[in-house]
Amino acid sequence: MKRVSVTDLQKMRDDGRRITMLTAYDYHTARLADEAGIPILLVGDSLGMVVLGYESTLPVTVDDMIHHGKAVVRGAQRAQVVVDMPFGSYQGGWEDAMRNAVRIMQETGAGSVKLEGGVRSAELVRRLVDAGIPVMGHVGLTPQSVNAFGGWKIQGKTPRDGVRVMADAKAIEEAGAYAVVLETVPAMLGAKITQQLRVPTIGIGAGPYCSGQVQVVHDLLGLDELKPKHARRFLQGGDLLRSAFATYREAVESGAFPTAAESHLLDEQVVRRIERMASYSFPTNMQHEGIDLEGALAESEAEG
Ligand code: KIV
Repeated sequence: MKRVSVTDLQKMRDDGRRITMLTAYDYHTARLADEAGIPILLVGDSLGMVVLGYESTLPVTVDDMIHHGKAVVRGAQRAQVVVDMPFGSYQGGWEDAMRNAVRIMQETGAGSVKLEGGVRSAELVRRLVDAGIPVMGHVGLTPQSVNAFGGWKIQGKTPRDGVRVMADAKAIEEAGAYAVVLETVPAMLGAKITQQLRVPTIGIGAGPYCSGQVQVVHDLLGLDELKPKHARRFLQGGDLLRSAFATYREAVESGAFPTAAESHLLDEQVVRRIERMASYSFPTNMQHEGIDLEGALAESEAEG
């Protein structure tokens, strides 16, 4: 199956087809999202918060990203897999950044990397693109700078700040990024930037006028207690999972799980031989709250 390429994404944008992107951090989620036809899977450093339980994305390492990136690439046959460059992996000079980007691409098999920052990251984006590494930019509320922003605040709300976010997006496009994530900016600013750029904009909390949308999979599935304003729960997954876990616990405690159908049974002859060899007698009627091993044994023998 042909993988979605960065040129396919540009064509989608040029044809006016909206682009869907979703985060994924493991094999099974990637496989299911891929089968659902999602064209871009982002191994976001949000993994630090939604998978690893940190308070921000800052503690995530290159090794963490590679570990999860590999799993997502194994699960997705068709999607373009983008792996985030985590905090500290590209702030220490372009050579360090190049080494980390090359490691991520080589060790995960992903199709591209994403990094945060506008004007300040433009030169680095240019170098990576020149080296043949497709880069997705990320401007607006860039979570790795949450401490500098003084919290998770909407960006571009004042005229001055709006112009700054627009300049950031433009700088990243001019540096050669194939797409730009716009995070937590007013919808009209998202629309204006989308109009001004030739490459796709992918919004998260940036309104409906972007070329595409990205969501964190835990928000979409309702697995997180918090529901950010920009998110929609397409499943009440938290409630469903909690209820399944409780039902499982009750079934174990009551003896309703496992049944014979969920047990591995012994052939009658083997049972008798064990009894002879070990001078041991199996209980004649191994019944236990719904499990009738003797009955199941007879049944499996009857089936041959
Ligand atoms: O890490 C992430 O999940 C992201 C998205 C929010 C765009 O960067």
